Amino acid sequence: MNIAAFPRPLADIPAYAPARNEVALFEHAWSRRLPLLLKGPTGCGKTRFVAHMAARLGLPLHTVSCHDDLTAADLTGRYLLKGGDTIWADGPLTRAVREGGICYLDEVVEARKDVAVVLHPLTDDRRVLPLERTGEELAAPDAFMLVVSYNPGYQSLLKALKPSTRQRFVAITFDFLPPEQELAVVAAESGLPEGAVRPLIQLATRLRALKGHDLEEGVSTRLVVYCATLIAAGMEAREAILATMIEPLTDEPDVKAALVEVARAVAG
Ligand SMILES: Nc1ncnc2c1ncn2[C@@H]1O[C@H](COP(=O)(O)OP(=O)(O)OP(=O)(O)O)[C@@H](O)[C@H]1O
Ligand SMILES: [Mg+2]
Repeated sequence: MNIAAFPRPLADIPAYAPARNEVALFEHAWSRRLPLLLKGPTGCGKTRFVAHMAARLGLPLHTVSCHDDLTAADLTGRYLLKGGDTIWADGPLTRAVREGGICYLDEVVEARKDVAVVLHPLTDDRRVLPLERTGEELAAPDAFMLVVSYNPGYQSLLKALKPSTRQRFVAITFDFLPPEQELAVVAAESGLPEGAVRPLIQLATRLRALKGHDLEEGVSTRLVVYCATLIAAGMEAREAILATMIEPLTDEPDVKAALVEVARAVAG
């Protein structure tokens, strides 16, 4: 294994507050080159966790945001016409396999079904990436690991991962941090003192309890960080709460009015 090719950076490790054993689990998965699946609601720290682990392990991070038009060829590569010549251009997954490091496929359930064809041989003990168009089979180097994530919340049944895909990954469920830990994270990320962050965390907890009733998703840690950041920048708390912890959650006037009431009651 050629980890020496990737010296650890001395600083610049993105801050990440672990909820449970996910750091150790990632390190074990990495030490055995097992692929990892992260699932959890929007804005709960999945992307930050991967960035933290890549920096901590001194590995390059190749991130691909999947969308519903993303095909296997988009990931692996294609022939392009250039000045009368046909040249092969690697896609991001092929580049990651060639260069090594962590390849992170964000929102993998969004991608087209044919993506499974390239992921399967890469995520079982073959560890090869088939390049259908060139006829090549690229062996993943030792220093390669695949990490995928998705949000089970707004995923339709049609978009669920097939068992044959899911069962190729070690999986971790993410959720919002317990209040005291989330408080520390939001204070650190925003620079707002903990005393001023506390009512925002209490409000977030209340709003999350409404998930499934009036709200599709509870308010994310990302939005609480936005709110605290605006308040730290001098914005009035009530306005910041409306703009970050209420408006992004709903387009329904009735629901919004109810959320404003909850915010007044909890955070003043
Ligand atoms: N455990 C944590 N430690 C440090 N920061 C965190 C943590 N959880 C959330 N955050 C903060 O919340 C923000 C959003 O997290 P992140 O972008 O990782 O969410 P995500 O789970 O990838 O969401 P999505 O599914 O929408 O992509 C981060 O930028 C960071 O400020
Ligand atoms: Mg993310």
